[in-house]
Amino acid sequence: MPETEAKAAPCGTEPAPPCTLVVFGAMGDLTKRLLMPSLYNLAGSRLLDPGFTILGIDHNDNTDAGLRTALTEAMEGFAADPNSEFHADHVDPERWGFVRERIHFLKGDFTDAALFDTLTARVSGNAVFYLAVAARFFGTIVEGLGRAGLLKQADGAFRRVIIEKPFGADLASAEALNARILKQADESQFYRIDHFLGKETVQSIMAMRFANGMLEPVWRREYVDSVQITAAETVGVEARGGFYEPTGALRDMVPNHLFQLLCMVAMEPPNSFAAEAVRGEKAKLAEAVKPIPLTDAVRGQYTAGRMGDTEHVAYRDEPDVARDSNTETYIALKLEIDNWRWAGVPFYLRTGKRMASRRTEIAVLFKPAPFRLFEGYGIDPLTPNVMRITIDPEHGAATELNVKVPGPKMRIGRAVTRFRYGDFFAAAPNVGYETLLYDCMTGDPTLFQRADNIEAGWAAVDPLLKGWPQGQIAFYPAGSAGPREADDLLARDGRHWLGLDGVTD
Ligand code: BG6
Repeated sequence: MPETEAKAAPCGTEPAPPCTLVVFGAMGDLTKRLLMPSLYNLAGSRLLDPGFTILGIDHNDNTDAGLRTALTEAMEGFAADPNSEFHADHVDPERWGFVRERIHFLKGDFTDAALFDTLTARVSGNAVFYLAVAARFFGTIVEGLGRAGLLKQADGAFRRVIIEKPFGADLASAEALNARILKQADESQFYRIDHFLGKETVQSIMAMRFANGMLEPVWRREYVDSVQITAAETVGVEARGGFYEPTGALRDMVPNHLFQLLCMVAMEPPNSFAAEAVRGEKAKLAEAVKPIPLTDAVRGQYTAGRMGDTEHVAYRDEPDVARDSNTETYIALKLEIDNWRWAGVPFYLRTGKRMASRRTEIAVLFKPAPFRLFEGYGIDPLTPNVMRITIDPEHGAATELNVKVPGPKMRIGRAVTRFRYGDFFAAAPNVGYETLLYDCMTGDPTLFQRADNIEAGWAAVDPLLKGWPQGQIAFYPAGSAGPREADDLLARDGRHWLGLDGVTD
């Protein structure tokens, strides 16, 4: 059976309606690395309509044939690279052919009104405008589209805009950008991307919580001691110094990615799975996060260090980074959520580059058993039960339990029950943007950020962005678990961070 037949659309999933995908930034890294492989996978799953087309816009000269060749070469390069997000060992000609023959090119300057006039002649019917460009162009492009009438939805056709991150650099700039774009079109036409929401496991946290009666009753302050959310990366800043210097770990990861994980794990059960029901609960949760005081945050920056056989340079020695830079490559925070369910339960968040291992996970630490029945029987006091939901490097969950050690005497030991998604379900090929693109084309905004959600994230971290004392930064060697000061943040509450190596059985 040809491979394309084997990968028919999942049961009940219809191809997205025909539309033109207009990509601003057609030769950019995001288009090559994530959009094209995602469209390839969607084509393989038969989720693209034959009437689907792509119009790529770039400021350099090119042609339809030239853009098709460049993107084909990029796809082949990714297939040959085991470290790329595109986990295919070759580019299937039929599948890629479907996408490739629909690619067209338009040269244009995003700041020039003439581009948008030309676009009106090239785009009719349904259209998704994908802003795969630097953040400084978001407002300008949306205004160009709006002024040219390209965002008017007439005769049943939809016009939608996908906006990448970073959406603003603080609360004021996020509010200003929202105000600017919402003058041009309705909130329902904007799809603000947070790629963490395209991750299968992030969505499955909702299923885990709300499809299992046994978990929901204990998912609250009476039973939960604390929650730890970690996004540890081994990669450094590498070639992204220019972007990272004015950004830092807090802006890059916290109000967006880590807050998405926080919302999924802590929001109230929505009344339905409808987009606005889910987004409403997420926004309520984000709004309940108390502004974080400076004393509940630690900023860190990596110094030189060894990881395995490789010596890594300090952040300050990376390209395009100032030698006296105070940009944080690590941040640890303690959050409090002011609502009925979570009052008094600390949520500890940490993220960093060049850490000892790659690990994105949420760990829910439960309170210990109330009565010390097993005093003196092995583990004393009993270590708390921990449920760890892992997103990277492996999708799954593990629960740490106290059990009897086999033998004639009563002795308590630690055991782990663990499941990996891969052991139960065959995963469709996925670079992380397939669901997001498909959902936008089918008009499902559940996995996209609403204006209020974005602003609530920025509002929580705003005191930190405004108040960091100049030069206050804690250092950690590349390949470590972060700065000592981050350990102190938990130690002062009588707690400690879980290891970055996951659960050991
Ligand atoms: C991006 C950040 O949004 O997310 C990067 O800009 C970060 O700095 C990346 O490395 C992490 O995403 P993932 O999917 O690799 O965990």
